[in-house]
Amino acid sequence: MERTLSIIKPDGVSKGVAGEVIGRMERAGIRICAMKMVRLTLEQARLFYAVHKERPFFESLTQFMTSGPIIAMVLEAENVIVKNRDLMGATNPKEALPGTIRRDFASDVEKNIVHGSDGPETAAQEIKFFFSDLEIQH
Ligand code: RTP
Ligand code: MG
Repeated sequence: MERTLSIIKPDGVSKGVAGEVIGRMERAGIRICAMKMVRLTLEQARLFYAVHKERPFFESLTQFMTSGPIIAMVLEAENVIVKNRDLMGATNPKEALPGTIRRDFASDVEKNIVHGSDGPETAAQEIKFFFSDLEIQH
């Protein structure tokens, strides 16, 4: 069984689509084994997105990610990293397939509603960033 980190970004929370996003995950057979709502500091956002620190959008992305509360979740299912990214759709909502979360709810390439880990190593690292072992339901 695989695990991944999902985040409902500030735009997803403020647009009131958190329930819909979580519902889609549950209907896809994904189990939520940890969840918390937090507001990141700029320092925490910079750390979380450190892989993107040389990218032109880093400043704007980290500002956006601290603009309001987010919902972090640990998801569990067979092949959940890919399964979750399929539900999310492409980074740019204009390129995302119909029926994906980003196509249905996102306004632009930055404010794209959700984050999902992109591989097993980043999943493990990102889960640790938000949750201790005690906070994850087995
Ligand atoms: P995420 O990490 O949030 O799940 O998204 P992703 O893998 O689909 O996209 P990634 O390339 O990792 O980029 C991380 C986040 O940075 C913002 N972004 N802005 N302005 C831009 O061109 C741009 N490109 C990316 C998005 O919020 C993206 O999800
Ligand atoms: Mg990414």
